[in-house]
This record gives sequence, C-alpha cells and structure tokens, in this order.
Amino acid sequence: MKKQKMKKILLLPGDGVGPEVVQEVKKIIEWLNSKKSLNFQCEEDLIGGASFDKHKNPITDEVFYKALEADAVILGAVGGPKWDNLEFSKRPERALLKLRKELKLFANLRPAICFKQLVDASSLKPEIVSGLDIMIVRELTGGIYFGEPRGIKPIENGERKGINTHIYTSSEIKRVARVAFELAKKRNKKVTSCEKSNVMEAGLLWREEVQSVKDNEFPDIELEHMLADNCAMQLLKNPKQFDVIVTDNLFGDILSDESAMLTGSLGLLPSASLGVKDKNGKTRSMYEPVHGSAPDIAGKGISNPIATILSFSMALRYSLDLEKEADNLDQAVQKVLDDGLRTKDILSKGKKEVSTSQMGDAIISKLK
Ligand code: IPM
Ligand code: MG
Repeated sequence: MKKQKMKKILLLPGDGVGPEVVQEVKKIIEWLNSKKSLNFQCEEDLIGGASFDKHKNPITDEVFYKALEADAVILGAVGGPKWDNLEFSKRPERALLKLRKELKLFANLRPAICFKQLVDASSLKPEIVSGLDIMIVRELTGGIYFGEPRGIKPIENGERKGINTHIYTSSEIKRVARVAFELAKKRNKKVTSCEKSNVMEAGLLWREEVQSVKDNEFPDIELEHMLADNCAMQLLKNPKQFDVIVTDNLFGDILSDESAMLTGSLGLLPSASLGVKDKNGKTRSMYEPVHGSAPDIAGKGISNPIATILSFSMALRYSLDLEKEADNLDQAVQKVLDDGLRTKDILSKGKKEVSTSQMGDAIISKLK
C-alpha cells in the first residue's frame, strides 16, 4: 500500500484522566500506522498542571510552537485540586485558553449523540433522548472568557471588585454563525441561536448578526432565536427539537455539559476546535473530550476513553482528510457498545464492565 503523506500529531495528555484516555488514542494511531500504512508522526508533551510541576508554567513556548506546527493537536484534560490555589496566570486552564486564543480556534464543535445502546444510561426517559443527534457550535475565542477589562481590583472600604467583560464584534459573531449554518446544510437544516438579548446588548448584537448571516447567505436554513435560559430548559424537555445550536463561549460551555448528560455520560462527548484558514490554506485545530480532568477517578483505570477516541475521529475527519478511517473508528465504537462492553460511567445491568485500556483494545479489535 502507498504510504500517506506524513501528518504531525501533537498529543497533550495533561492532567487527571487525560493521560489514560490519550494513551488509548496513541494505541489507535500506532495501529493505523502499522496496519493501514498511514504516516502519522506523533509527539507528546506536557500541558496544564503537569507542565507547571516541571516548568513552573502551564504551557512552555516550546510546546506552544509545536502546537502551531502540528496538523492536529489532541488534548486530554487540564486542571485539578492540586493547582487550584495557584495565581490565575499559572493555572492549568490558562494553557488551554492560550492555545484556543492564539491558534485562533474560534469554532468549537460539540456533537451530542445518544447512542441507541446507551439510551438507558441517560437520566432522562428513553423516549426523550433516543435518536438524539445535536451539534453545539460554541464560540471559543471571545466573549467573557477573554474580554477586557478583567481582574480583581481593590475599591474603597477594603472592598474588592471582580470584573469580566462580555464583548463580541460583528465579525466574531458572523464567522461562527457561518460555521453553524454550513454544518446545518449537511444535517437537518435548522440552526438555533442562543443568547440573552433580553438583558445584554452583546446578546442583542449576536441575534441581529446571526439573522443577517442567514438572510444574506443561508436563506434555505431555518433559523430560530432562543434565550439561553430557555434553551437550557428545552434541552431537558424536548432535546430532539434541536439540530445545530450556535452560542457564545460561556453559554456554550454550560449548554454542552448539559447536552453531554442527555447522551448518558460526559465520558462520551468529543469536541473539535477549528480555526481560521492561514495563507497556505491550512486550518489549525485541536481536539479534546468535553469532560475535564476528573481527578476523583484519575489513575484507577476506570475512565471512559470514548470521548477522546471520538475526538480523534473528528481529527481524522476535519483535519487529516481521512473520512473513511473516521467512519471506521466511529463504527468500531458502536460495535463495542453492541457487544455490551461498558466502562463504569455507562455501566448498566447485564453489561460487562471493562477498564479504560480494555475499552481501547476492544475498539481496536473492531477496526481489524
Ligand atoms: C471546557 C472546559 C474549559 C472551559 C475549562 C477547563 C477552562 O470546561 O472545555 O468546556 O471552560 O472552556
Ligand atoms: Mg466546560
């Protein structure tokens, strides 16, 4: 078989369960290299608390430049109680936010799919979640996460004030809206845009700019505007009304965790963060599970690697031009679930509990 063009993948396992789940992706990459003659060159480095422990810095310049160079970055998770009392700029989360901001990864795709094998794992009734397939598009480089001014400042009487600024420009809103409409084109042709235009000017601008993108560029896609609090409620009441949801950085953070639970476990939700095309036509990207570092279960071999494996599948699809391999990997996950294998988070009666690495091995065995 002809060798593929070499693609560089940077693995950043990070903290907590990050290393265990990324290890399973590493095994899949090794398998693809040896069995499918693919040509991935993998590098692995520190990020988050792990990097802070060694370098007193949650991300070194060296790692940052490796991320800039990579064809895809696969990140595990960052953070944990060990680093909770560090000054803000040294905290593990800053590394993740720096990568998102400086690689300009403005569009974060978080698909929430309820696998038929797992309808019972959701805390909602099966008829509410079965067949669920929604895509959350979260704006990732703007809004209150990055707005200035920010900080904690002393004021009179020994009081302090904490400040963050929620701010969006028209172009930031329009570019992420376009991503949502493009995705909807290939799906069920409906976008729900969420903001709080009833109380926030930035929310009102969001609503107007998303509407103008629809009117001018995507007349055939249905657009619905919804207040974010109502969206949170509707996601529990009738989640199947949604196709693509587009929302800002903060609401997207919250609504995507909520959607994850509709699918049964936070351990199932992958994500892709995509950037702007550079002058060579290359789009920077980073892939990470939506779950965090889960320090309470780290190191026990019980974490669910599926979210990270599906994140890698998104990398194959969106960054590495390997649609077929992505489909195969998604199907392998399905087959393992069909066989009744479950990590602890999705275990139900009559199913077989497996460890993190057994789940990885089982998925690889289905690739064969
Ligand atoms: C996420 C996480 C991050 C966020 C944290 C770890 C900074 O919750 O990716 O959803 O808030 O964006
Ligand atoms: Mg989150």
